[in-house]
Amino acid sequence: MSQQSQFLTLLIILASFSTCFSSYKEDPHATNGGPDPIAHTTSMGTINLGDKHEPWLVDFMKSQTKRFGLTTRLSSASTSQKLVNVGDFGAKANGGDDTEAFRKAWKVACSSANSALVVPANKNYHLKPITFSGPCKPYFTMKIYGTIKASSHKSDYEKDTLHWLVFENLQDFNIEGGGTINGNGRIWWESSCKINDKLPCKHAPTAVTFQDSKNVRVSSIRIKNAQQMHLTFQNCQNVEALNLVVIAPGNSPNTDGIHVTGTQNIQIQNCVIRTGDDCISIVSGSKNVQATDITCGPGHGISIGSLGADNSEAEVSNVMVNRAKLTGTTNGMRIKTWQGGSGYAKNIIFQNVVMNNVSNPIIIDQNYCDKKTACQQQPSAVKISNVAFKNIKGTSASEEAIKFDCSKSFPCQGVLLQDVNLVRQGNGDVDATCLKVGLQKKGNVSPGC
Ligand SMILES: *[C@@H]1O[C@H](CO)[C@@H](O)[C@H](O)[C@H]1NC(C)=O
Repeated sequence: MSQQSQFLTLLIILASFSTCFSSYKEDPHATNGGPDPIAHTTSMGTINLGDKHEPWLVDFMKSQTKRFGLTTRLSSASTSQKLVNVGDFGAKANGGDDTEAFRKAWKVACSSANSALVVPANKNYHLKPITFSGPCKPYFTMKIYGTIKASSHKSDYEKDTLHWLVFENLQDFNIEGGGTINGNGRIWWESSCKINDKLPCKHAPTAVTFQDSKNVRVSSIRIKNAQQMHLTFQNCQNVEALNLVVIAPGNSPNTDGIHVTGTQNIQIQNCVIRTGDDCISIVSGSKNVQATDITCGPGHGISIGSLGADNSEAEVSNVMVNRAKLTGTTNGMRIKTWQGGSGYAKNIIFQNVVMNNVSNPIIIDQNYCDKKTACQQQPSAVKISNVAFKNIKGTSASEEAIKFDCSKSFPCQGVLLQDVNLVRQGNGDVDATCLKVGLQKKGNVSPGC
């Protein structure tokens, strides 16, 4: 596609989206106590297609419709539920290990139609790593009212050091309840090479992993202090992550909030994410990803990537971040790729974003390097095209408010800045760096290149 027709494509995409979504609204919950999405239920409006639209946008919207269908089906199933209480299977919540009781209760609930596995309120259950597997009977719900806390003995993770709670091979499955999942991550953070550089770099467990599942919804729970990442969707289709609160200290290493990998048709909505790494990270194999009404910070911002590490191929497309508020994060809206990768990141829209003292509010970095030693120059790259930053306002903590550092061999194509106004937090100037980028500007854009 020529540069010009790419801009045209992008404009058409934007025109269609602007008819679909209202403009940014100030977060109504941003009071002293901060937003509480669990207390707040989101209504999901319908989305109309404009007359003219791109094929990818049509597919994107069709997948939306599917997800709305999912919500209706899951909630209508809740009327005649059979309740399976972990307490009836020997879970004591007295500080001892409750893993076996949860395993037994899961087995019973999973195999009965219309059932709900109940984790009672005001109790604190301790679990070792455990895999909750399907297939289960449809419309199975896990109701977490109380707290599930991770074992703090590293020896419990010997068999699988990458996961704590795993949900796999599930279809029409739902987690809800307003309770808490606590990864108890401190022992893992202390032994991270990012905290103590004398230690070897090893991965710590992800607190909650969904894999190989379809039509799943995770809503109204708190996930905190994960060992590493908090919530990962891997190889899933049709996912809703709604009204979540994800919290860990700002200096906890690699504690991404929500990580999306190899997953299609996912909607992340009305979430508050405050952690030590990306609030949301979207990586290879992900398509049709929508994140709406996100409150982020501290953390590293909302990221696509990193992509293409170790000369790998990566494909990410059709991502829309709409209405986000970022505070004190090290990046705002970011795309990061390593040199030497291949594949693409395309059709990406970041819009209606408020930045509050964010260090790199807008950044595309095709020379990303997160190693102790410098990365070598390599000619191949994950190609980046059709990216829009629209209605991005607020303050930058650094001078470099906008940074496009694209590949010499594969410059970024079709990047649009529209109605961007970023000023320095406190006193000072802001600047934009624009290297190897095919850039178009609309409306008022400040700072300029
Ligand atoms: C802004 O961010 C910088 C760097 O993260 C920090 O040192 C500073 O205290 C922040 N300022 C305000 C007003 O929050």
